[in-house]
Amino acid sequence: MEARSSALGFKSISDYLRHLHRAAAVAERSRVSQIDINSYGDLFESHATDLGTIYQGNSLAYLHNYAEDESVNLIMTSPPFGLVRKKSYGNEDADAYCDWFRPFAEGFKRVLKDDGSLVIDVGGAWKSGSPTRSLYHYKLLVMLCEEYGFHLAQEHYWWNPSKLPSPAEWVNVRRVRVKDAINCVWWLSKTPFPKASNKRILAPYSDSMRSLLKNGYKAKMRPSGHDISTKFSIDNGGAVPPNLLAIANTESNGAYQDYCRDNEIDIHPARFPALLPEYFIRFLTDPGDMVLDPFGGSCITGMVAEALGRQWACVELSSEYIRGGIGRFQGDVESALRGRQAVYSINTPCALPVNEAEVPLVANGGAER
Ligand SMILES: C[S@@+](CC[C@H](N)C(=O)[O-])C[C@H]1O[C@@H](n2cnc3c(N)ncnc32)[C@H](O)[C@@H]1O
Repeated sequence: MEARSSALGFKSISDYLRHLHRAAAVAERSRVSQIDINSYGDLFESHATDLGTIYQGNSLAYLHNYAEDESVNLIMTSPPFGLVRKKSYGNEDADAYCDWFRPFAEGFKRVLKDDGSLVIDVGGAWKSGSPTRSLYHYKLLVMLCEEYGFHLAQEHYWWNPSKLPSPAEWVNVRRVRVKDAINCVWWLSKTPFPKASNKRILAPYSDSMRSLLKNGYKAKMRPSGHDISTKFSIDNGGAVPPNLLAIANTESNGAYQDYCRDNEIDIHPARFPALLPEYFIRFLTDPGDMVLDPFGGSCITGMVAEALGRQWACVELSSEYIRGGIGRFQGDVESALRGRQAVYSINTPCALPVNEAEVPLVANGGAER
């Protein structure tokens, strides 16, 4: 037991026992809710390449009936969000989100390899009629770690510089909230040591770092107490990126949209940009590894995995979105890895002069218009 406990990354046997106890409670709950794994229906192969397959059907069928145990290196996905304002792809009510997610969490645990990663892009949600936020995506994270034993390897935030200010009522009309511009991206793992290398995802050095590398740096202690040694001026080929991923989601005229328009197919309304799966696939998998997107949508994860030489599977319920996704494989898949802007900047807040006497705080916190 000691060997298993430390292989799974638990600090002590009592931590491991607590985890087993929670897992038993989860198993009991799922036994009581009687997940009928035969009720998930069949999967249909809609499109296949040498490396991967798009399946039409419920991904629970893939996760519980179809895939082998521990056969997936990376689950890279963006599930339907628990938005209060429902979108055409069928969002679940934020409050019921965790219950809805449980059978997926069980399946993820089963199909993921011990050194694999689960990456979930999940947008936040405002409570209906209130300038306050739902906790559903934090509850999801806590549930995945506490009930299913996943480790939070590192949270990431995807900043979309092109996101419009919303919700307009609180941001533009009553002026009591600011623009919501990030999605949370939970990077989870089965052990604390999923395979990874940040050397695969380096960013170009900034101008100041380049000049420092050229002209040298005098080792000194920073006021914060950090000892900036001479090692700081070693050129490592690029900068380790932060966990804030600046990726504009502006693709509105690409080959995918042209294909959908030409073939009268609905364009998927909630796509993530190619760079998001590219970052995690490069960071966390090797060529030949298996990447799964159980909420495949327009199959951008599959396209990027294909371009990077990984095996992949995308599972999607909607035949309409699959028709569009197949279009991604009609042309040059490597185009998914090109055409990105290198630098985004964000202006510092509080940089404009303001006469506070002339700008009172909004009365009653904006309770009335
Ligand atoms: C947020 S979208 C994913 C978009 C995708 N990342 C992209 O960039 O195109 C979520 C998708 O999950 C699909 N979906 C929801 N429940 C599903 C299930 N049980 N099995 C398979 N797909 C499902 C929805 O039809 C929707 O297309």
